[in-house]
Amino acid sequence: MNEPEQHVEKSKIRVWDLPVRLFHWLLVVLVAVSIYTGLTGGLKGMDLHMVSGQAILCLVAFRVLWGFIGSRHARFVHFVRGPRAMLAYLRDSRAGRAWTPGHNPLGALSVLAMLALLAVQGTTGLFANDDIFLEGPLAAKVSKGTSDYLTFIHHLAADALFILIGLHLAAILGYLVVKRDNLVTPMVTGRKVPPAGAGAEDRPFASLRRALLVLVFVACVYWSLAAWL
Ligand code: HEM
Ligand code: HEM
Repeated sequence: MNEPEQHVEKSKIRVWDLPVRLFHWLLVVLVAVSIYTGLTGGLKGMDLHMVSGQAILCLVAFRVLWGFIGSRHARFVHFVRGPRAMLAYLRDSRAGRAWTPGHNPLGALSVLAMLALLAVQGTTGLFANDDIFLEGPLAAKVSKGTSDYLTFIHHLAADALFILIGLHLAAILGYLVVKRDNLVTPMVTGRKVPPAGAGAEDRPFASLRRALLVLVFVACVYWSLAAWL
């Protein structure tokens, strides 16, 4: 490796831990499967739809827990900020000096919105029905009127999700084109190169074993709830 390459390699800092990256790309695949099967229907397709939808619910629960015990940039406390921090970020952004290693205060809003919307989408799906032969696993536990209402919310949430995903992709493209900041590579490798003078600190990541324990815990709780209900 020549000198400049070595320098760049050294100046990279760890931002996204492996559990966050695995969570993200698995979520992308499962959301794509859920949207495709939800829109195309069919008995086999809808079986897959319900499995992928419930896996998304477990993933979201995992990410919420990981937001408390994950590594630095995965924790809510490090990226969920008040209106003041958002305004300061916008000001700095206009002056060309805004840089945050993890989610910026505005991006944090879209992360929270995405997690909340996926939770609503998955939960309403459990109670949904298609008026013909399909029912979510908990639809029989509520009245037909309630199930119809939750089905309506399930459809509405799907429309909102399309908009949110569109905004998410537009923001990432905007960063690349306008700010020349590639956010995708760090979501793959976990590492970012801070701009000169940003003074970002490299931090060790939380352990993968801890993430696996959280995931097993979430799956056990979900499985027990499903058996109990
Ligand atoms: C089904 C579509 C998608 C969903 C539901 C989704 C959801 C999310 C969520 C929840 C986060 C927050 C990650 C965390 O902190 O745990 C995130 C971040 C991110 N996503 Fe996606 N995503 C989608 C598609 C994509 C695609 C296709 C790309 C790449 C082209 C992408 C690139 C990113 C990047 C780069 C970040 C980090 C942004 C930052 O630096 O603040 N996402 N996404
Ligand atoms: C978060 C993940 C989910 C996404 C993105 C999703 C998305 C969708 C979409 C796009 C549709 C078609 C809506 C339309 O035609 O306008 C749909 C329908 C449906 N989904 Fe989901 N869904 C998810 C989770 C679930 C879960 C967990 C279940 C049940 C276990 C479920 C059960 C159903 C049912 C029964 C329908 C048919 C409703 C009808 O035809 O009126 N979904 N879903």
